[in-house]
Amino acid sequence: MKLFIFHTPELTPATTVADCAIAIDVLRATSTIVTALAAGAEAVQVFSDLDKLLKVSQDWSPDKRIRAGERGGARVDGFDFGNSPLDCTPERVGGRRLFISTTNGTRALQCVEAAPKVLAAALINRQAVVQYLLEQKPETVWIVGSGWEGAFSLEDTVCAGAIAASLLEGLNCSVEELAGNDEVLGAVALYREWQDNLLGLLHNATHGKRLLRLDCHEDLQYCAQTDLLDVLPIQKTPGLLVKR
Ligand code: MLT
Repeated sequence: MKLFIFHTPELTPATTVADCAIAIDVLRATSTIVTALAAGAEAVQVFSDLDKLLKVSQDWSPDKRIRAGERGGARVDGFDFGNSPLDCTPERVGGRRLFISTTNGTRALQCVEAAPKVLAAALINRQAVVQYLLEQKPETVWIVGSGWEGAFSLEDTVCAGAIAASLLEGLNCSVEELAGNDEVLGAVALYREWQDNLLGLLHNATHGKRLLRLDCHEDLQYCAQTDLLDVLPIQKTPGLLVKR
C-alpha cells in the first residue's frame, strides 16, 4: 500500500485517481456525516452548490429529508441545520436523508468522487477507516484534507496523521515504506506531537478559532475525540454516502 496525503482539494491531482480516496473535514463536515449515519440517517448526499441542493432535495417529502447548509461556519438562512454534528440525533435524522453543502468539506468529497472507493473520515471514526484499509489493502490510497478555501488546516492534517500512524502499526511497516509523498511524514509527526491534546490543537487551528467565536465550543470537544464511532461512510454513487 502507498499512502499519499494532499492538504487541500486544490493540491489534489486532477487527472488521475487512487484506488481508494478518503476525504477529511474534521471541523466539521465529515464529523457531521459520520454522526448522521451513526444516528440512523438513510444516506448523506453532498453538494458544493446550495441551489443544486435545494433543487434535488425538493423531490423528497419534508419528513424524509434534512437540508443542511453552512457558509463561513454559520447556518445558511432557510436551511434546517447548519453543520453541527451535535444536531444529528436519532430523533432528528433517523430514517431521513441528509442533504448537505458546506464551505470546504463537500468540495473535498466531490474532488475525489471518481475514485473506485471513496470514504469519509474524521477523528471520531479513525479506527473504522483504518480497519477498512487493513482489510481491503488498496494499492494506492489518497487522503484529501478540506483545508479552508485552498489553505492548509491543522485539524485535517492531524487526522490524516492519526490514520497513517495507526496504519503503520497495523501493517507493521516503516513510514518510509508507506509514504507516497512528504506530507505523510509531516502528518504523522504532527499527530505524534499532539495525540494527547487534540482538543488543544483544534483550539489553535484557524478554523477552530473561527468556530469558537461562533460559540461552537461543544462541537470542538466532540470532533476532537478519537475512535468514538465504528461507522464508515462509503460512496455508493457520486455524491451519495451510505453506512458500510
Ligand atoms: C467546511 O466545509 O468548511 C466546514 O465543515 C465548515 C464548518 O465548520 O461548518
